[in-house]
Amino acid sequence: RVNDARKESSLSEAAGESVEIRGWVRTRRDSKGGFSFIEVNDGSSMGNLQVVAPAELENYADEIQKLTAGCSLVAVGKLEASPAKGQATEMHATEIRVLGWADPETYPLQKKRHSFEKLREWAHLRTRTNTLGAVMRVRDQISQSIHRFFHENGFYYINTPIITASDCEGAGEMFRVTTLDLERLAKSGGPVNYSHDFFGKPTFLTVSGQLEGETYATSLGRVYTFGPTFRAENSNTSRHLAEFWMVEPEAAFFDLADNMSLAEAFLKRVFSDCLEHCDEDMQFFDSMIEKGKLDQIRGVIEKPFAHMTYTEAIEVLTSCGEKFEYPIQWGTDLQAEHERYLTEKHVGGPLILTDYPSTIKPFYMRVSDDGKTVAAMDVLVPGVGEIIGGSQREERLDVLEGRMAEHELNPDDYWWYVDLRRYGSVPHAGFGLGLERAVQYVTGMANIRDVIPFPRTPGNAEF
Ligand code: 4AD
Ligand code: MG
Repeated sequence: RVNDARKESSLSEAAGESVEIRGWVRTRRDSKGGFSFIEVNDGSSMGNLQVVAPAELENYADEIQKLTAGCSLVAVGKLEASPAKGQATEMHATEIRVLGWADPETYPLQKKRHSFEKLREWAHLRTRTNTLGAVMRVRDQISQSIHRFFHENGFYYINTPIITASDCEGAGEMFRVTTLDLERLAKSGGPVNYSHDFFGKPTFLTVSGQLEGETYATSLGRVYTFGPTFRAENSNTSRHLAEFWMVEPEAAFFDLADNMSLAEAFLKRVFSDCLEHCDEDMQFFDSMIEKGKLDQIRGVIEKPFAHMTYTEAIEVLTSCGEKFEYPIQWGTDLQAEHERYLTEKHVGGPLILTDYPSTIKPFYMRVSDDGKTVAAMDVLVPGVGEIIGGSQREERLDVLEGRMAEHELNPDDYWWYVDLRRYGSVPHAGFGLGLERAVQYVTGMANIRDVIPFPRTPGNAEF
């Protein structure tokens, strides 16, 4: 109610009505005229509300004048048009109840600006800052929008396992699951013993729900899985996490062209939902984090995405005269710097790259007629690089078996996956969008650690 009333258009409707705000103090300033101005953050996208506390309040001297950053309170009062700059409304409090105190000697979020890097040390408190609060609200919006889009387009939401025996991406970047051996622990009294298996079988935290997703696509038609995925890659970059969230649609009777159209419609829907439902937060990012973000996203929604094959991209990259740190030639994987050159300097917007060499892509991608490339597609965006990776899947039994042999995969581990090609095989395709990379793109946040509540990176798993 308080935030509805705070929207300028509805202030007059709320005139005279008492409202309540519950939240945490950002700052307190006492005026000479016998007032205190308390900025209160209630977690909403409306930003902080200025609460004006008159000296007549019964707890003015005892409590209100002792409020510091981080204290929690409930304030009751009337909303009035604010004479101060930068805020439409303020509250004239008739009652303030303090719920919890915060020792100013130890509360880390003091008024000065902290770097995002510093804020990561207080992952449990940093969402009380304007930027992290806005990021997490946009992250929520993107998650909700993902579900809405797929639900409205006939995709069933399925839950794929987190503990698995297969390595979807074939990169060997998996965390092993171990069972705490309580019996031995009790006998020995320590040190802690772990048996390196899942009740007798080696298992891992999943890198992708795709393989299991394919089993459901080839029965329900269109499905998506959306959950945490894990990569044990020891990379310390601004766009890699060891634990990240991925949404993976998978559709039977889809080819690469269908897959690309789906990815484009999907991203545009997510972006326009952010503009529509996160107006205040998006304005904030536009003015505080990346100037021009709003216009950039509006432009992206209007125009068709650019398309290019991997081979064409290599031609562009080798003839553009740009000095890259990593050399590039046909057959090597693109690095972030190459993806950024293509999206930022060459096309100036999102780019769908297709038809990568089979040698740099996983075993499940469909081999094209040239025998050298696969029906792969990556969606690249300015500032971030790859946000989507996907492909048409290899539906031919003999070709899939050949590819698995090339990748030295044990057919016993994938018998159920191969079975899908044995019984009523159909063309099908899908992709994966990294949720955090999408949040980074929409908000303009430079580091992926600042768009997930509790980032997991090498050396970072404190709580
Ligand atoms: O390109 P990737 O590895 O593709 C897959 O996992 C496929 N099985 C998806 C599918 O076709 N169903 O990962 C997909 C996306 C990437 O484009 C990127 O956005 C994100 O997941 N991603 C990561 N995000 C954060 N940290 C990491 N370490 C990531 N690795 C991939
Ligand atoms: Mg990829």
